[in-house]
Amino acid sequence: MSDFEPKIVGFFCNWCTATAADLAGTTRMQYPPNIRPIRVMCSGTVDPVYVIRALLNGADAVIVGGCRPGDCHYVSGNMKARRRMAILKTIMKSLGLAEDRVWLRWISAAEGPKFAKIAREMTEEIRKKGPSEMAGAWEA
Ligand code: FES
Repeated sequence: MSDFEPKIVGFFCNWCTATAADLAGTTRMQYPPNIRPIRVMCSGTVDPVYVIRALLNGADAVIVGGCRPGDCHYVSGNMKARRRMAILKTIMKSLGLAEDRVWLRWISAAEGPKFAKIAREMTEEIRKKGPSEMAGAWEA
C-alpha cells in the first residue's frame, strides 16, 4: 500500500470558500489536511498561470473555490473563473496533461460540511491517481 499523500493547492475566495473552510475547521469537521489554502478576494482573480505554476512547483492537484453563480461579490468574477478554468482544462487536455487534477467548485460561506466533503473526495481521488507528472517538470 502506498503512503503517498497528495499536496493540493486551494485558491479560495475570501467571501465564500475560505469562510466555509474556516467554518469546517472551527466546528471540528473531519477532513484531510492535504489542501494548502490560498485566500484570494474572488475566484475571478485566479489567473490560470497560478494553477500551472502550482502544478509545476510540486502540487499534485489544484482546487479553485468560489461563490455560487449569482452570489459573487464582484458580480461576475466566478463566471470569469469558470471560463478560465474551462479553457485551461481544454488546453491541458490537448497537451496530454491531467486536466482532471484541476477542480473548480462553488462552496458558499455556510457550507462547511460541503467543503469538508469535497476535501475528502478530492484527496481520495488524487491519492488514487498518485503523484502528478507535472511536478518538477520545469526543472527537467
Ligand atoms: S467574490 Fe467569491 S467568487 Fe467572486
